[in-house]
Formats: sequence, C-alpha cells, structure tokens
Amino acid sequence: MSAELIDGKAFAAGLRARIAEQVPAFRAAAGRAPGLAVVLVGEDPASAVYVRSKGRMTREAGMESFEHKLPADTPQDDLVALVDRLNADPAVDGILVQLPLPRHIDEQAVLTRISPDKDVDGFHPVNAGRLVTGLEGFVPCTPLGCLMLLEDRLGDLSGLDAVVIGRSNIVGKPMAALLTAKSCTVTLVHSRTRNLPHYLAHADIVVAAVGRPHFVQGDWLKPGATVIDVGINRTDAGLVGDVDFDSAASVAGSITPVPGGVGPMTIAVLLRNTLVAAHRNAG
Ligand code: GUN
Repeated sequence: MSAELIDGKAFAAGLRARIAEQVPAFRAAAGRAPGLAVVLVGEDPASAVYVRSKGRMTREAGMESFEHKLPADTPQDDLVALVDRLNADPAVDGILVQLPLPRHIDEQAVLTRISPDKDVDGFHPVNAGRLVTGLEGFVPCTPLGCLMLLEDRLGDLSGLDAVVIGRSNIVGKPMAALLTAKSCTVTLVHSRTRNLPHYLAHADIVVAAVGRPHFVQGDWLKPGATVIDVGINRTDAGLVGDVDFDSAASVAGSITPVPGGVGPMTIAVLLRNTLVAAHRNAG
C-alpha cells in the first residue's frame, strides 16, 4: 500500500464539532433548537441503524430530533399527510424520509411533497435543478461530503479530470454536478459504459458509487489518483466498498477506506444542511 488514507471519520467528527459550536448562537437568537425530522417506514435493518445514529448525532449536536417510525404497510396517503404536517411545523427545519421506501409507495411522490426549504437531503427536483444551475439550495449529503474530502485533500479542483461511476439521483448525478461546478472535467460512467478502464486511466479523481463490491480494480487507475469509495456493500466478509481496496491502494495517491471513509460524512453534512435550513427558516 502506498496511498494515503483519507480519514472521513475524523473529518466528519471535526465537522460535527464545528456545527455543534454554532448551535447555541442559533438557539439564543431563535429561542429554539434547530429541528430535524426523520421518517422511517418499515423495518429494513440497515435503515434502522442509520436512523438511530442520525437521531443520536442530531441530539449530540444540540439539535432537536423528531423521529417518526411507521409500519411497513403504511398507506402512501398517510406518509404524504405526515410530510404535510412536518412541512407546516415551525419546530421542524429539515425533513428526511429514509430510503428505500416499501415498494407500494411511490418514492418520487413522497420526495416531491417535502418543502424544498426543508429538503435537507437535497432530493427535491427544485433543489436538484438549483444544483445544476448554480443557484443556492440543498445539496445531497453524500456527494457534498465527498466534495469536502476532495477539497481538503487536493485544494482547488479546477481543471482536474474526474470520473464518477454511477448515475443515481442520490450520489452519481449530484456528484457530477458538484465537480462540474468546481471546474473539473467530468465523465459520468455507469453500468452500460463500454470499456470503463479507458476512462479511468486519465482520471485524477475517481468517485465510485455503483453498489458492486470490489468493482474498481487498481490497474484501471491513473497512478496517484484520488479515490473516493462511496460503496457500502454487505458481504460475508463484512462491509466492503465498490473499490478493490488492496489493488487500488498500491496505485492511488490517496483513498477512502470502507468503513470510515465517506460513510461518516453523510450524517455530518446532514447536520450542516439542517443548521443552514434553520437559519433560512428562522431568518
Ligand atoms: N438511504 C441511503 N442514503 C440515504 C440518504 O442520504 N438519504 C435518505 N433519505 N435515505 C438514504
């Protein structure tokens, strides 16, 4: 291994501490804490773990956590009605509906119901549109966390070649938009891309978000590349990323581990977005 490890866990802890320092001033000015509502439908075990840690870290940052756990067979209309109540609740600054939702629920119908001003996940089409047009809005937490790690490591990203692997609304597409806004030359590749190694060979930055364990091979990388692994794949060997860590670490300049890389950044950025929402909603 020659690559330097990018310690997302430590960076996220620092970010959470900086946010927690800013909360008392908001409380003093607004007469209340910033509030984050998290909605979990069903019993998906991984989602339950995320929601628990979101609640804990929200409270640790001095914010109010409103947790709504609904049964898996909750009708879509009931979920939409809850979103409407949270939209109207002045104690709630941010609303997060944990994905994936049960199959009988139309995800887009729920996500588009969240007020764009409380959409701390940045999944509403209005916020997605703001991101690509360069307007202020909420940016999805995971790609924004990846960008923070990249800028911390590389400084100015202008002119660098970046390859984003995966085209999801949650990571790939917003990541490509963020890197474009930072003046990278961005290539978005995906499961139908032919000859993926061809694109990776020139990439100064690689962000892997495909959801396939050990997918990206070290010999596909440009020597010295900065590699951000968004994958969280549960295998018999435990949690593994989308990047074949051992081979990649011998070629890359720096790389995020899984776990302890991108994962902890998501909640830290969620808290940041919630504080930003609180200031906007109170102001
Ligand atoms: N499921 C996996 N990642 C996320 C996320 O960032 N936000 C929400 N709401 N659900 C998720």
